[in-house]
Amino acid sequence: MEQQHSKELPKLAFVYLDHVLRFFNASNFKAWPTKIESVVYHWGNDKNRFINEVKQKKIDVLIGNIPATAYETFREISRALPQVKFIPSLDAQFANKSKENVTNFCKKYQLPIPKTDVFYDKKSALRCLENCQYPKIIKKSYGPSNYGGYFVHKVDSFQQAKLLLAEKRYYPVYVQEFVPMVADIRIMLVGHKPVCAFWRRPPEGEWLTNTSQGGAIDYANVPKAALDIAVKASKASNAEYWACDIAQGYDGKFRILECATAFAAFPYIRDWIGQYIIWTLSPQTASKPNIPLYNWEELGKLKSQLLRTMRHITFGEYTASEDCADNLALLTKEQYQMLPVELRAFEEWPSECWNFQDNYKSTTYQGEVENGQALVNDSGLEDNESIALEEKTLPFIELDESQLNDFFQSIKGIGKQLYLSIITTLGVQGTLEALNLHPNHFLQVKNLKEKKLDTIVLHWQQTVAVEYANDERKYF
Ligand SMILES: Nc1ncnc2c1ncn2[C@@H]1O[C@H](COP(=O)(O)OP(=O)(O)O)[C@@H](O)[C@H]1O
Ligand SMILES: [Mg+2]
Repeated sequence: MEQQHSKELPKLAFVYLDHVLRFFNASNFKAWPTKIESVVYHWGNDKNRFINEVKQKKIDVLIGNIPATAYETFREISRALPQVKFIPSLDAQFANKSKENVTNFCKKYQLPIPKTDVFYDKKSALRCLENCQYPKIIKKSYGPSNYGGYFVHKVDSFQQAKLLLAEKRYYPVYVQEFVPMVADIRIMLVGHKPVCAFWRRPPEGEWLTNTSQGGAIDYANVPKAALDIAVKASKASNAEYWACDIAQGYDGKFRILECATAFAAFPYIRDWIGQYIIWTLSPQTASKPNIPLYNWEELGKLKSQLLRTMRHITFGEYTASEDCADNLALLTKEQYQMLPVELRAFEEWPSECWNFQDNYKSTTYQGEVENGQALVNDSGLEDNESIALEEKTLPFIELDESQLNDFFQSIKGIGKQLYLSIITTLGVQGTLEALNLHPNHFLQVKNLKEKKLDTIVLHWQQTVAVEYANDERKYF
């Protein structure tokens, strides 16, 4: 049996990156009959070794998300491996790299977004900010966005915008109209079919909806208009799996805030993605999974233990119950079908055209200095470790006092004295809350300024948070 399968089936491998949260593992692909390999990218100068390992192992399909900071390298790797299929394709992962890519993607496909300007040189950014209406939102475009809103800022005046940019040195400068909103909706899709959606509502009087910032989740009556936008985006991306955050403004309009293949997915959703991918790779032998539409409200009522068990459940084909007149069966069949992605033999988003961030810098930007400071964000341009998933993958991480001490001692530039002031000012619990939820609280500590704060945040993301978030038991 095994022999026969391996002849006709492609050879699969997961692509993993050192220190990065693993979106899939073999348990998500239980029904795949042959062994799934893994190939690990070790960062730094590892491109050729990685390519050779894929060739040596005779891999046909590489499955997994590529984090922002490795995206350009993997576009090169995929060119060097033309026979290897990446799932999702590098084109489908275009939006994972940066918010400007999300914006360019949405503009191309006429998907609704807040009005957005991206500047690659500081002077034009400042010129625009001097003459625009406020409030505005300024975001860090590039890199891991798992700090849920931490790199998103509301500015109320030109003065504030200027200060923020001087301090953060974000590159490029990503400026968006501020949309007063009821809430936003997270929609997850598999094969362009919505499989889960929920509202994220900001706390009273606040505007950030990220759950790590106190945003509340509910499943009440998710509007079809939002689902339709998400389906349109998913089809445009040609991605096997996809998620959108769509804001509903007080003006009643829907706008995409974020969309990508890298998102925080509950374990059972990753199972469904696995079942779907197995079906697309082997339609003769595997059957298409039946994932019920509009299950999410019911999911919201389930206990977390049961949700964990859900990962072992697959559904039969949906039939409408005779004692309730519903048209869900019809909707499922006609409107929200699960479809295979298109096969494409071309690159839709080649880096020569679309990697503005690096291309602009290497031609025009190099050396441009204003007020003694280049605008280039030095933390963002290197090929360094990062985390690809968003806030919900990172549960509240508890450390005891000695683990906290170890964590801070491992950060370059944080001495014993500063650690002591942190603990005395915030307490152990307060320090944990600052690390997990409110990094700004560190600014209460004497002698701890923005720059150190950023170092702490990055170090937390890259070491402790990754390690703990890998533990699935902590998901709910
Ligand atoms: N243009 C905007 N107007 C108003 N609120 C916004 C806007 N953009 C983002 N937000 C709020 O900030 C949150 C985080 O923004 P997002 O772009 O999703 O960054 P992150 O990668 O940190 O999640 C959103 O969920 C939303 O609540
Ligand atoms: Mg977000």
